[in-house]
Amino acid sequence: MRRETLCVMEKTDEPSRPVNTPAYFSSTYHLSDDSYKKIADGEGRRSYVYSRWRNPTTAALEHKMARLEDGENAVATSSGMAAVASLMLSFLGEGDELVTSRDLYGGTFSFIERELRGLGISIRYVDCTSPREVAAAISDDTALLFFESVTNPLLRIVDIPALAAVAHEHELPLAVDATFASPINQQPLSLGADIVVHSTSKYIGGHSDLIGGMVVASRDICDDIWGTMTRYGGCMDPHAAFLLLRSLKTLHLRMAAHNDNALAVARFLEGHEQVDRVWYPGLESHPQHVLAGDMLEGSGGMVTFRLHGDDGDGLRFMRSLEVVSEAASLGGVETLVSMPYNTSHSYLSAEERAAIGIMPGTIRLSVGVEHVDDLVNDLDRALEGIQSG
Ligand SMILES: Cc1ncc(COP(=O)(O)O)c(C=O)c1O
Repeated sequence: MRRETLCVMEKTDEPSRPVNTPAYFSSTYHLSDDSYKKIADGEGRRSYVYSRWRNPTTAALEHKMARLEDGENAVATSSGMAAVASLMLSFLGEGDELVTSRDLYGGTFSFIERELRGLGISIRYVDCTSPREVAAAISDDTALLFFESVTNPLLRIVDIPALAAVAHEHELPLAVDATFASPINQQPLSLGADIVVHSTSKYIGGHSDLIGGMVVASRDICDDIWGTMTRYGGCMDPHAAFLLLRSLKTLHLRMAAHNDNALAVARFLEGHEQVDRVWYPGLESHPQHVLAGDMLEGSGGMVTFRLHGDDGDGLRFMRSLEVVSEAASLGGVETLVSMPYNTSHSYLSAEERAAIGIMPGTIRLSVGVEHVDDLVNDLDRALEGIQSG
């Protein structure tokens, strides 16, 4: 079945046969001989005992996400960070090494630096756009390769099949955080990755009204990650799972609108004299435009750019927008603007931010699904404002 159909389709085995999976607000379930047996056999994950382990609404969402990502199994978590942390803590322990890139969401970078290092895990940062550099970084201690695709906020693209070949040559797992791409624009597992991670707070949720995360992988990998997730307690709430099942039904429609609007906005910005540089994989000027065509089925809703002026001009520009709201986060139906330097990447020191290339005046737009003319007019008016101001 095509992804559009998988997004919409839902079947429940409820006796009343509802069209939608209900939200099950129950922390616990009546025990039976079967549940005792599953617990005794170490199969507690597959039995309804306690909602930190399993909940029918969350299980329906996991099932749907696994099918959408062409994976065997999935683990829903309380946030994208809980997904990233559960994944990393499943694979990495004292003496192990993580090979990753500095091109990461600030929270992920901060988790690696402030948590993993403290556990005696070493980190090798590489250029995620160079499979050769990734291969050279692998040592006997390497236990996991983790990259974002598309990266936050500079929208770099990683060559997933090339990195998967490197990882598998060394019998290592390759994990990809595909939050920016969503399951509609990219299929990391089909491209060769072993694990895909999402912050479902973004495109999958799509309405800026919930926090959640998801890991999709083989059943064995998911069982391990589920164990870590339940021990640390980062399970998804069934209300968030219910909202996500609803959001998934329009994911393909929303992503098509995000892709179209963002390309039009990126083209407009690139042609504007106040704009110094635009990063967008769908523009011919993106250094990896050709690779983006192979890796992505749509270029996404994120556009990053820099003005000619200083960050004060950037702030004035953001504050004079009317349709677009100044807010952190991304992936919702509404267009949001922020400066990663002091929002998504504020966890990093000035030196760390400079090393990734995130400078104070860099502006990140999460282009929504409004009418594109209203967005372009709003941006145009705000840009003219700083010119005359
Ligand atoms: C690429 C990426 N991964 C992970 C996360 C963390 O997700 P959450 O905020 O749901 O914990 C974010 C948040 O912005 C992100 O952009």
